[in-house]
Amino acid sequence: MSQHPETKAIRLQTPRTEQKEHATPLFLTSSFTYDSAEEMGEAFANDSLKVNIYSRFSNPTVDEFIAKVAMLEGAEDGVATGTGMAAVFSTFMTFLSQGDHIISASAVFGSTHTILTRYLPKWGIEYSYFDMAKPESIAALIKPNTKLLYVETPSNPGLDIIDIKAVADLCKKHNILFVVDNCFATPAVQQPIKFGADLVLHSATKFIDGQGRVLGGVVVGKKDLVKQLYLFIRNTGPSMSPFNAWVLTKSLETLFIRMDKHAANALHLAKSLQGHPKLSGVKYPFLPDHPQYEIAKKQMSNGGGLLTFELKGGVDSGRKFLNALQMISMTNNLGDSRSIASHPASTTHSKLTKEERLSVGITPGLIRVSAGLEHPDDILNDILQALDKC
Ligand SMILES: Cc1ncc(COP(=O)(O)O)c(C=O)c1O
Repeated sequence: MSQHPETKAIRLQTPRTEQKEHATPLFLTSSFTYDSAEEMGEAFANDSLKVNIYSRFSNPTVDEFIAKVAMLEGAEDGVATGTGMAAVFSTFMTFLSQGDHIISASAVFGSTHTILTRYLPKWGIEYSYFDMAKPESIAALIKPNTKLLYVETPSNPGLDIIDIKAVADLCKKHNILFVVDNCFATPAVQQPIKFGADLVLHSATKFIDGQGRVLGGVVVGKKDLVKQLYLFIRNTGPSMSPFNAWVLTKSLETLFIRMDKHAANALHLAKSLQGHPKLSGVKYPFLPDHPQYEIAKKQMSNGGGLLTFELKGGVDSGRKFLNALQMISMTNNLGDSRSIASHPASTTHSKLTKEERLSVGITPGLIRVSAGLEHPDDILNDILQALDKC
């Protein structure tokens, strides 16, 4: 009987043990045992993927989490990592070598920007940035040594959107690996593989956890690509903890219902704040005045849980706004059941120069809001009373 992804996210589970547990078990163990020396020898032969040896290599709880994300993303296989950044870094390290070239959207998460600009060049890997608003500029950046193209859509924190299919088609034409960070949308809202992406990765720390408890990352895609990534992670060590995998696999049971509510709350906030006298703009992928609204509608089932707005008063107003909040949390995480406000210019993207920040839309007064699951009026009222004070 075929089932919907919502059902599979709840029902896909490690085979029940002899304890007949209902909830999925947690295999909190560093290593696994064998019945004989021969069996142990066989497990180590050919980097076996079938037998659990050691939890840096594989673990049933982590495997359940991976299987669910792969299923939701429409991918053949996947691999999990300790953090989202470990997923990003492991992907770059697996598929890029000295002398290679990577093209990335300039609007990417701050630490991803740091890897691209500070670390990859150290190892002889060059990068080029393109503007998410000008995807037509990508083709001119392609060189014979271009191996990988990287985007976040929606981007953090600018909420820029790119046409995944158009970029995938270009990458296919030039034999370039296309990697999408799908952290802001989650597979409940957007499945980039459907539009031609080769690999999709996540900071599972965000909406996949959904309650701000654990860190995690995951990369999914075709089996042959995942095998290469798996071997990198197995040998270099940024593997996911079984405990975190257990938290995350349980969280996936509620991903769809949570994303619907996050998006409904975010849309309500965005619509209600449009035209507010203290703001010079509100940005949300499903607002018709979003520059890539039509693309967002084409590839996302809702606008996601994040919105941004620009305070007319710049940095000063930004600080006053955050200090005036009474309920919304002041923290740099996102994708939590609790609404969160942050000021990217002074936090997540503070490592960028002022010019770099402006080039990716991070203006001094930009506030990023991760809409939580509270009653929408309570979130809105907190924002409105804080706006009154700045
Ligand atoms: C879009 C995006 N990608 C990657 C990361 C990195 O994830 P982690 O903090 O789990 O390492 C983040 C974190 O905020 C993010 O927002």
